[in-house]
Amino acid sequence: MLCHLMNERIVRSGRYLKGKVLKPSMVEREQKMIDKTNWQAIHDHVVAWILEASAELRQAVKGHLNIHSKSSPNDLVTNMDKQIEQFFIHKVRTSYPNHQIVSEEGFGDEVKTTKGVLWLIDPIDGTVNFVHQKRHFAISVGIYEEGIGKVAVIYDVMSEDMYHCVAGQGVYMNDEKLGELDSGELKTALIAVNGKWLNKNIRIDPEIMRAIARHARGTRSYGTAAIELAYVACGILDGYVSMQLSPWDIGAGLILINEVGGKTTQVNGDPLKLLENNTILIGRKGVHEEMLRYIQEGIEAGKYVQQK
Ligand code: IPD
Ligand code: CA
Ligand code: CA
Repeated sequence: MLCHLMNERIVRSGRYLKGKVLKPSMVEREQKMIDKTNWQAIHDHVVAWILEASAELRQAVKGHLNIHSKSSPNDLVTNMDKQIEQFFIHKVRTSYPNHQIVSEEGFGDEVKTTKGVLWLIDPIDGTVNFVHQKRHFAISVGIYEEGIGKVAVIYDVMSEDMYHCVAGQGVYMNDEKLGELDSGELKTALIAVNGKWLNKNIRIDPEIMRAIARHARGTRSYGTAAIELAYVACGILDGYVSMQLSPWDIGAGLILINEVGGKTTQVNGDPLKLLENNTILIGRKGVHEEMLRYIQEGIEAGKYVQQK
């Protein structure tokens, strides 16, 4: 609150801070420092909440889960997806009442614009893994201000690995700072892709996906977009393609990948839209370029790609 008031005062006057007269460049520097402190504090809150929620999830996998299907028999939701989402919503509303929340299970807000501060929350990414495997699922929280990524935390609940950042300060895997991603080549790349896009489906001609898979060193499929995006950010994977993901699936991962200099677009190369479902093409430079080229060549040859 104090920072917020100070922020407002600097923005309004442009000249004063704590009784000092500031030159414009100093005002900017102080403004940046205050922004940094704020986002760091929010990041630390998110980390604490995620650690609390993940303890509940590790308990829950030992007991009985109430499981229902949503849009299709394979689209699962459990009592824990709802409970964890409600936990986060309560925390955000209490600490940051002016922030907006977009979340999977419907307890968030009806958000129409990216104005202000926006939280994209997936309480359990990889619910099918949570139910079947009791591992390989994550909590994903991405925070944006005016559509710009500021804080991201993805937590692999069972391995207890955390992928996180405050924008501008680098990405960390647990407490190890990661470097910028180098450019790469598809022939030495590992690409994550869900097997369904390599078979007949309505969204993309499988021949396009097969061309990418054929030219890569290997393909992997983990069943959790959040962890797959985190893996691209830290170089465990080199690329990722999906024909449909929701804002909460990608909110945190995009921030991490942008922070380390990776490329994030729709499969036709267009920019991603934060509040819509998107097709996703992610990768280190070079690999992203090559995958995009195979998709564009496929489209030029008359093969189908459905953007929505
Ligand atoms: C799903 C996972 C999965 C991806 C699906 C997502 P959920 O999220 O990320 O890997 O292929 O498109 O819906 O439903 O487990 O949160
Ligand atoms: Ca998800
Ligand atoms: Ca989910």
